Amino acid sequence: MLKEDNELLTRVGVGTPMGQLMRLYWIPALLSPELPHADCPPIRVRLLGENLIAFRDTGGRVGMLADHCSHRGASLFFGRNEENGLRCVYHGWKYNLEGRCVDMPNEPPESNFRDKIHHLAYPCQERGGVVWTYMGARADPPPLPNLEANMHSGEECRPWAALRACNWLQGLEGDIDTSHAPFLHSTITPRDSMRPGTFQYYSERTKQPRPSVAETSYGMLYANCRPAEADSDLWSIGQFLLPFFTMVNSIDLGQQFVTRAWVPLDDEHTMFFYFWWAPPGMRERDPEGRRPHFSFMRDFEHLPNTSDWLGRWRLAANRGNDYQIDRGEQRVKTFTGVATVHNQDQAMTESMGPVEDRTQEHVGSADRTIVLARHVLRQAARDLSERGVVPVTVDQPDLYETRSGRIILPKNANWIEATEQNRKAFSGPQAASQAG
Ligand code: FES
Ligand SMILES: [Fe+2]
Repeated sequence: MLKEDNELLTRVGVGTPMGQLMRLYWIPALLSPELPHADCPPIRVRLLGENLIAFRDTGGRVGMLADHCSHRGASLFFGRNEENGLRCVYHGWKYNLEGRCVDMPNEPPESNFRDKIHHLAYPCQERGGVVWTYMGARADPPPLPNLEANMHSGEECRPWAALRACNWLQGLEGDIDTSHAPFLHSTITPRDSMRPGTFQYYSERTKQPRPSVAETSYGMLYANCRPAEADSDLWSIGQFLLPFFTMVNSIDLGQQFVTRAWVPLDDEHTMFFYFWWAPPGMRERDPEGRRPHFSFMRDFEHLPNTSDWLGRWRLAANRGNDYQIDRGEQRVKTFTGVATVHNQDQAMTESMGPVEDRTQEHVGSADRTIVLARHVLRQAARDLSERGVVPVTVDQPDLYETRSGRIILPKNANWIEATEQNRKAFSGPQAASQAG
């Protein structure tokens, strides 16, 4: 890859083509419980390279203000969160959610100076336990994307987050990288759950699946095909949705309601958000005998959050302790010696460096999904920066009404046509397509 292309894809600051592309969309910024109650302490949030202060006002609504006070630049992190506004403690200027200066007590009462102040503020919305913010230029922001996993109550969705200390694209590419799972996430001794006839069994039996990719209006649809029985194949279908969402293929299509977001905090740090939902009755169920998905979120030990820009949702297994690798386990139990699938992905993608140098890569036929996703992203960023073309996904939230997952199809099936109905979100859970 050319150096310019790598820069184009990875840099998200103000004025960069990718940064401008992302600013067209609503962005997951934090989990609702990070601001637990009205008038609670504000928190530092870095997003797309910008330092922001999030606060919940007296009415319970969330605001996102630029860090530096419009008066003389003190940080609003130290502000007092009081009566529907955040008050800078240096000279007492007070801002509301919209960034209007509603009180300027160090100026004469007759002054209208405060009406001239427009402090940078980004609108926020909460849905499914997530605070979303819009950092774009429109006065009237577009709608939130209709992501099935984020459209129920926060208690039902129970979203989850983890900091990843590398560029956002490395995280995203790890999710759509269809060839690493049978290596990175495998075990030396077969798992108990890997009974013949299960998806897991077919998956691990064939280490070189046949990848298939298709560009879509919202990004990319892809699948890995592996032989199942004599007359059938296992298709593992995943999605990439602009600008940074993925839907992975861990369980059955029609039983999985998952979206993952790779949100750049800056060029070298990413907040991974995991949105999950399941209908009542499916929440504690696992088609392959593994733990239910809610417990996925309990697999990880977070370090206590700090007030630092990069202090939220750090994991206990991290680069500083080599992800707690156990070389004994690596010899006899797991391929990596690193516990949990998430930590294995974390270790690999962070080990590439803060921003992977893609000029040194050797991308092969197993990397087709990554090649197409890069193409889609590069094209969208270029179309916007050079011709002002806004992707259709910005104003069509229904394009996000889709699902991913695994399914058994007859040999030689057209997987895209055969799964059209199964991929529709909000169509209700579907019966398992195999007896596991
Ligand atoms: S710097 Fe904030 S009020 Fe003066
Ligand atoms: Fe992985």
